[in-house]
Amino acid sequence: MSMRLDKYLSNMGVGTRREVKKLIQYGKVMVNKEVVKTIDYKVAEDKDHVMVYGKTIGYAVNVYMMLNKPAGCITATQDTKDKTVLDLVNHKRKKDLFPIGRLDKDTEGLLILTNDGQLAHRLLSPKKHVPKVYYARIKGCVTLADCKLFLVGVTLDDGYKTMPAKLEILSAGEASEVYITIHEGKFHQVKRMFEAVDKEVVYLKRIQMGGLSLDSNLKLGGYRELREDEVQALETF
Ligand code: URA
Repeated sequence: MSMRLDKYLSNMGVGTRREVKKLIQYGKVMVNKEVVKTIDYKVAEDKDHVMVYGKTIGYAVNVYMMLNKPAGCITATQDTKDKTVLDLVNHKRKKDLFPIGRLDKDTEGLLILTNDGQLAHRLLSPKKHVPKVYYARIKGCVTLADCKLFLVGVTLDDGYKTMPAKLEILSAGEASEVYITIHEGKFHQVKRMFEAVDKEVVYLKRIQMGGLSLDSNLKLGGYRELREDEVQALETF
């Protein structure tokens, strides 16, 4: 749906029709980062980014998607060498989307793509301790002793002592399967935590972030928009 720029601005509460016409004529209004001085310029409410005095007035609605990231692509918006997570997505707002947080190239699972910088900031803030749950397959026998060590925190190769992490053993033997919940996001954190107890992660998949779980119906590389309750759940934990 599109409408005249002056009508759009007054509908958004920027001022009366008369006032907003002046703002447009004086070059104070930008649509998609370009000054527009035509009062009857047609704005697409669901697509266009409208700013007045450099402040965003309407930017459609925020977009929130969950992607089941496959191995082999990197968590970036663009890259000259590797395929990125955004290359998997086809969406009219794609150019505005970015991933919240990072998964390694060989890690699979839940990745949030959004254009909501504030949400990203809150979820990634080191003060918030947002829980992230991973399923991992480990070379080596994961023991209760490892669970206890993870619970107090282990020291990584660079001397950093991790925050308490919950380790749940699903099976243990020459190879083990676990769920691990961490509350921070250091570089290669899960892999390095297992290295600290002389074990190796051979497969890693994120299944939960905050209160949001990966939709088990999404195949690898699949994505979908979040429901309203799922957006709320992200910050509920
Ligand atoms: N920890 C890792 O080691 N890798 C990831 O991709 C995420 C957490």
